[in-house]
Amino acid sequence: MLTQLQTDQLKIEYLQPIETAKETENSFDQDIKKGLNECPKKIPSKYFYDDQGSQLFEQICELPEYYPTRTEASILRQYVEEIAQITGTCELVELGSGSSTKTRLLLDAYDKQNDGFKYMPIDVSAGILKESALQLQQEYSSLEIQGLVGTYHQALTQLTPTAWPARMIFFLGSSIGNFSETDYDNFLNKIAHVLEKGDYFLLGIDLQKPKSILEAAYNDSQGVTAAFNLNMLAHLNHQFEGNFDVNCFYHQAIYNEEKKQIEMYLVSEKEQEIVLKNLDLKVNVKKGERILTEISRKFDVEETRDKLESKDLNPVKVFTDENNWFALILCQACK
Ligand SMILES: C[S@@+](CC[C@H](N)C(=O)[O-])C[C@H]1O[C@@H](n2cnc3c(N)ncnc32)[C@H](O)[C@@H]1O
Repeated sequence: MLTQLQTDQLKIEYLQPIETAKETENSFDQDIKKGLNECPKKIPSKYFYDDQGSQLFEQICELPEYYPTRTEASILRQYVEEIAQITGTCELVELGSGSSTKTRLLLDAYDKQNDGFKYMPIDVSAGILKESALQLQQEYSSLEIQGLVGTYHQALTQLTPTAWPARMIFFLGSSIGNFSETDYDNFLNKIAHVLEKGDYFLLGIDLQKPKSILEAAYNDSQGVTAAFNLNMLAHLNHQFEGNFDVNCFYHQAIYNEEKKQIEMYLVSEKEQEIVLKNLDLKVNVKKGERILTEISRKFDVEETRDKLESKDLNPVKVFTDENNWFALILCQACK
């Protein structure tokens, strides 16, 4: 790991690239090439998150239609102290930490216990990770922070055993819903592998609910989600010297009731040839053709509990809101 920034209490490091990643995430260029040559075309959702994408996501979290963030925050607000009591002192490892806004609820609860703890935010978006780590350092002066810039896959492959009495990996925002069934399975295998017996995993999942509520959440009236989706093309243009014409695509988000997932697409308004120079990639996109940019699967608590149990991640407690719209499952590694 290459250290980018270091003070007594704060360290930001870059994770090593993984050349042979075949599972959850391929190396940056291979996954784009593969996705754009599939039918339907796909772009992995991690490409949403350049600095602009991270900022747009922050705006999405504030939208009246986007219930997941405030619902998950309300569950945390109600139960963080119970969570901290169950786990006791530990190292807190957050996957996809973003602005670490909801994390502050957890940090406050662990802070109150007065036993010391460490926080490791991990995110592919370097800008927001550094900015929020610096901010947190000011707010929690004695907190040890070790931020890692890289993907979930890199982090779970490169995490070394903790010196703290226990570790809790947490994955909020129902980001697990962005994985296909296979990637979901591989991801949980990696979590189970990296945790030692007695360690914890806290998982946020968005639950199944009426289509109208779900579709409104991903098609907000102010068009922020549309801007977030389209920004992915600007990010690819910048990163790979591409020629996507952002004005010739539009945003579409639908709930696929059979698969129980929101599917977010960019639809081409005309026939066009897309060139990504740095990847030596040329593809044709037809008028009306859709590029899948994100799935967001909606879960059932019992099925998820069974899945976690099958990975030796024993659910200790499930926390939900009054509408049963969202759940946090706290699991303990039993092997
Ligand atoms: C939907 S946001 C969730 C942020 C925050 N955890 C929350 O619950 O509000 C997803 C975050 O994960 C990061 N991210 C997306 N894909 C990633 C990947 N493959 N590896 C690491 N971070 C990723 C993004 O940069 C972003 O900050």
